[in-house]
Amino acid sequence: MIGGVAPAVGWGKIILVGEHAVVYGQPALAAALDRGVRVDAQPADRLTLCIPAWGIDVAAGGEHPVSIALGAVAGALGVGGAALTAEAAIPPAAGLGSSAAMAVAITRALGALHGLGLDDDAVAAAADAAERCFHRRPSGVDVALATRGGIGLYRRGAGLAPVDAPRFTCVVGLSGEPRSTATMIDRVAAAVGGDAGDPRLAALGDAALRAGAHLAAGEVAALGPILTSAHRTLATFGISTPALDAMVDDALAAGALGAKLTGAGGGGAVIAIAPGREANVLAAWQRRGLDGFVASLGAA
Ligand code: PMV
Repeated sequence: MIGGVAPAVGWGKIILVGEHAVVYGQPALAAALDRGVRVDAQPADRLTLCIPAWGIDVAAGGEHPVSIALGAVAGALGVGGAALTAEAAIPPAAGLGSSAAMAVAITRALGALHGLGLDDDAVAAAADAAERCFHRRPSGVDVALATRGGIGLYRRGAGLAPVDAPRFTCVVGLSGEPRSTATMIDRVAAAVGGDAGDPRLAALGDAALRAGAHLAAGEVAALGPILTSAHRTLATFGISTPALDAMVDDALAAGALGAKLTGAGGGGAVIAIAPGREANVLAAWQRRGLDGFVASLGAA
């Protein structure tokens, strides 16, 4: 806490199991990253946002998607001008919840500047207004994790049920492939024929519940096969890519217990559970010229 005001931070996230299925009402197991977006707010007449790490410098009222999202947050909060500057420690558009982290950090910064005394529910509601500018039908999992941190089982409508897991590491690899969440959501809709009862969606939801139970019992290694199996299921929707498949295979060959794409797919990031073998997994990806990092996950 800084001077009694919550720091203006939104956390990045990874979905361990259950992406896409969560859009259809299944549970997803997701974890906040130990990094995200931090926003500083100064009084100003105009509402502006600069994120040097992402090459973004916009004012509310423009046509850039971030400009529209910025206006959506300010509108939801009923506030006007501020000069916002953001430090981003996660890459944009990589499936790591960057837009939700940004929206939550903006909301907290504007709330603190204007003395609004927002609780987590109010922060999530305003940030969700911004997320709707990026995705037509967000499940809300990104905003929930960006706001509350920790690990939890998220279900549309029910929100985030925290899972009290011991801290553990997860290796995150960045494919560098551009992707669009909305396009991937459309691709899954086509693959399941718009049928929320498709057994693959139920299988992913069941995998999320099993993985959550293992984590709550401290059985991190048990996540490995669940993650790899989820990757194979997601691939049947047509949302993996040769690069993502190669990164999963690299991780397994380097000693990971399990690996999968995370987030919408079509590019973005891969995660691997590789206790004691994290450096080997990163080295395998680096041989392909791909960056990654080791994240520490666990209770908020
Ligand atoms: O790749 P991201 O961070 O946009 O994650 C999307 C997760 C989905 O389940 C595909 C969509 C959603 O709204 O939950």
